[in-house]
Amino acid sequence: MRRIVVTGGCGFIGSNFIRLELELDPELSIVNIDKLTYAGNLANLADLQGNARYQFARGDICDKDFVTSVLRSGDIDAVVNFAAESHVDRSILDSSPFVQTNIIGTQTLLDCCRLHKIGRYVQVSTDEVYGSLGDDGKFTEETPLAPNSPYSASKASADLLVRAYVHTFDFPAVITRCSNNYGPYQFPEKLIPLFISNALKDQSLPVYGTGLNIRDWIHVLDHCRGIDAALRRGRVGEVYNFGGNSELTNLDLTYALLDALGKPRTLIRYVADRPGHDHRYAIDATKARRELGWEPQAVFAAGLRQTIDWYLANPDWIANIKSGEYRSYYEQQYGNRLT
Ligand code: NAD
Ligand code: TYD
Repeated sequence: MRRIVVTGGCGFIGSNFIRLELELDPELSIVNIDKLTYAGNLANLADLQGNARYQFARGDICDKDFVTSVLRSGDIDAVVNFAAESHVDRSILDSSPFVQTNIIGTQTLLDCCRLHKIGRYVQVSTDEVYGSLGDDGKFTEETPLAPNSPYSASKASADLLVRAYVHTFDFPAVITRCSNNYGPYQFPEKLIPLFISNALKDQSLPVYGTGLNIRDWIHVLDHCRGIDAALRRGRVGEVYNFGGNSELTNLDLTYALLDALGKPRTLIRYVADRPGHDHRYAIDATKARRELGWEPQAVFAAGLRQTIDWYLANPDWIANIKSGEYRSYYEQQYGNRLT
């Protein structure tokens, strides 16, 4: 593989993936397609400026002519699609951009890739397409799709389109589904960077509902290694789950963050629950282990410490984030702006 297109490379996971790929494979060059929505940040890849193996193309994956012009620009061996609207809370406020980018954007990419006979396509998806677990069990690749939020419904729709293109057109696609990521460069609307950012300013940490919802946290680089393995060794038409074997309640995670930052637990503020809030996610990654030889490497406590240290060492990165007029759904619904 010599040249690939990555979409959504200015976001959290995409930027970590591009940096990792360029390190892992000295022969590889990457074109990054990104629209630069509120979540896209050129600073995430500022260190690659001037790198001859990296090229940025600003544009929308829903724009067929633009995507075509990028695919025509050189011999592209593969496309890895990260571009998405990714925040569940925002999808509760307005699902339109989720349907547009996550579904129509994926369909546009699939059509363009098919037309240009791209030899490999990876759809980066999420465990949230499987819905919510009770207190036992884990998601396998055979778990039926049962998305509960507009975000996860849009991701599941995209997965079904990919599946249909494999079945109908022999399209060479692989789907990956991963649990909640943490690590450097995550936009501070998601739980871990939001709570770090608030705690550093001695502002409240808004815990939804009881705080007993459970997520399976994975370090972003473990996820990126999984996507790399699926890109190079995944079987066409297959789905691969990745998880971190690190299940935590939101409350235990919040305690860990506050303790690591030396901040008091009185900063926790319980707020009204997120509508439709999934109770638990947990991943069975046996298939990825068996077929791809993939294992998560990070130990959660050390990975979280390293992540916190990254945010502490990069205050400008957070200070320069433009969150615009965004107010979270509970702020809009209940007017309880947090100070
Ligand atoms: P992110 O919100 O940080 O980044 C998304 C990126 O996509 C941004 O750079 C944005 O500018 C770009 N983008 C959005 N719409 C676009 C469009 N129409 N055309 C081109 N670019 C566009 O998201 P993330 O957390 O890095 O997630 C990346 C992918 O991984 C998503 O597909 C998401 O569903 C999936 N995923 C995320 C997690 C997680 O924990 N964050 C877990 C599993 C799967
Ligand atoms: P989030 O990072 O938004 O990821 P996802 O909803 O995709 O799992 O949220 C992780 C968990 O933290 C989820 O159970 C919702 C909860 N949460 C809060 O309690 N407060 C917050 O301010 C946020 C953003 C999330």
